Amino acid sequence: MSLMSDSSQPEFAVIGGTGLNQLAEFELLEERRIETPYGAPSAALKIGRFNGRGLVFLARHGDGHHIPPHAINYRANIHALREAGVRQVLAVAAVGGIRRDMRPGVIAFPDQLIDYTWGRAHSFHDGSGSGVEHIEFGQPYSEMLRHECIRVAAQAGLEAVEEGVYGATQGPRLETEAEIRRMQRDGVDLVGMTGMPETALAREAGLEYACCAVVVNWAAGLADGGIHDQIEESLAEGMGRVHRLLQALLPAQ
Ligand code: HPA
Repeated sequence: MSLMSDSSQPEFAVIGGTGLNQLAEFELLEERRIETPYGAPSAALKIGRFNGRGLVFLARHGDGHHIPPHAINYRANIHALREAGVRQVLAVAAVGGIRRDMRPGVIAFPDQLIDYTWGRAHSFHDGSGSGVEHIEFGQPYSEMLRHECIRVAAQAGLEAVEEGVYGATQGPRLETEAEIRRMQRDGVDLVGMTGMPETALAREAGLEYACCAVVVNWAAGLADGGIHDQIEESLAEGMGRVHRLLQALLPAQ
């Protein structure tokens, strides 16, 4: 797969979540503020170079991490990326681990999701003049980009979980133990708050979109101790892996 390398109009974007408000070693060339029919994105698009390759970066929670998951303008974010000429998006998202191999510190590339969110503006086709559109979503992520991530991670000797079911919860609160037990019964492997409607909107916009989930804690009730302490301990390890993944995805020129 070719990840476009022309810095003037990069086709590859990273949406950074908790722990990744900015990208180390990213050479910023331009900050582009884009107004969309849906309002303003979370932040200006940062257009620049990483490892000598063109890259667009968007901070999902805004610069300084001030927008909670349920209040993110997902439509504006995806629309702005599309407007800027982006074609492929790697969405980095901190999650809680449910399945045994989803332990804090690991990265995972989910292949399925279940949506537990509610009340979010979840479609560009909301009946206000844009017509009726039923996107196919049986495989919610770009299999091409997901497999490319898996391939380069293996090549770089980077431990990564190659599949899993992402459960998107409403937040901003964490889940109850009973909610996590229900999600286990549903077949959910990792839980986060931002996967939907971002993933569906990316499909509606025709983007190749994959998720790099960074497990930062055990989901509620699955480990002793406070979740926030676990997050503090494992965030740096997980984000280090994301950085190495990006270096492998966008090899130096
Ligand atoms: N639940 C939901 N979202 C999360 C979690 C969690 O345990 N950890 C990081 N994001």
